Amino acid sequence: MSVYLVVGGSGGIGNALVKNLLGKGHKVYSVSRNIPEIAHPELISFSCDVLSPDPLPEIKEPLNGLVYAPGSVNLRPFTSLKQTDFQNDMSINLYGAVRVLQNYLPALKKAGDASVVMFSTVAVQLGLPYHASVAAAKGAVEGLIRSLAAEFAPAIRVNGIAPSLTDTQLAGKLLNTDEKRKMAAERHPLKRYGSADEIAETAAFLLSPAGSWITGQIIHADGGLSSLKV
Ligand SMILES: NC(=O)c1ccc[n+]([C@@H]2O[C@H](COP(=O)([O-])OP(=O)(O)OC[C@H]3O[C@@H](n4cnc5c(N)ncnc54)[C@H](OP(=O)(O)O)[C@@H]3O)[C@@H](O)[C@H]2O)c1
Repeated sequence: MSVYLVVGGSGGIGNALVKNLLGKGHKVYSVSRNIPEIAHPELISFSCDVLSPDPLPEIKEPLNGLVYAPGSVNLRPFTSLKQTDFQNDMSINLYGAVRVLQNYLPALKKAGDASVVMFSTVAVQLGLPYHASVAAAKGAVEGLIRSLAAEFAPAIRVNGIAPSLTDTQLAGKLLNTDEKRKMAAERHPLKRYGSADEIAETAAFLLSPAGSWITGQIIHADGGLSSLKV
């Protein structure tokens, strides 16, 4: 049994990951503003806003892995984006991750062999209109991932997942009609958008010993969107 911390365990991909890891027999700590609606003896949930100045929950035991899932989808033409949009996207995607990592680094180091997973977006690899703010913030996250993978090797592996459109609350406005769902599926070479469960499975793989020779990578779990033209 390994011990993992999922930041953002109450919803979307993070919630699917909490269920995935519990199902594999691991112990899971979850940190999010709302408590996940999961009752399990190996789940310890904390209510906490990672952007607030309050201290992050204390975890005394060694952590085999940490996943930072909070993020944003703020799609607007560049001329409508304000400085505060860029600042907010940097806050939740980058600064929140930095704060969490700095806080729990001692617990990851204690494990001796740990794995960190963060989230980027397909819009970093592939230029998409109206994505300037979130793509800039996630591009910074990708830089953080590679830098920390180098700095923490060989003790801690650090990887990212760059999903395309995935069916979660965050993407709700992009998938709230049959027409939008159909068009979203059609845009992808694999002819569907992603599910929280399959992105969570990718994260679980990166956390596990099966991913033990992978570090500094961004996994493009995007239905082929960033690399194929079919
Ligand atoms: N879904 C997509 O289409 C898509 C596409 C590309 C990239 N991504 C990236 O994938 C990651 C996961 O996305 P998702 O769709 O699963 O997002 P989501 O449905 O919005 O879930 C985000 C999780 O983070 C928590 N959270 C948000 N702000 C927080 C805060 N300030 N403090 C503590 N917890 C906070 C939320 O819980 P509470 O509200 O309870 O705090 C929730 O549990 C994100 O980084 C996102 O940018 C998603």
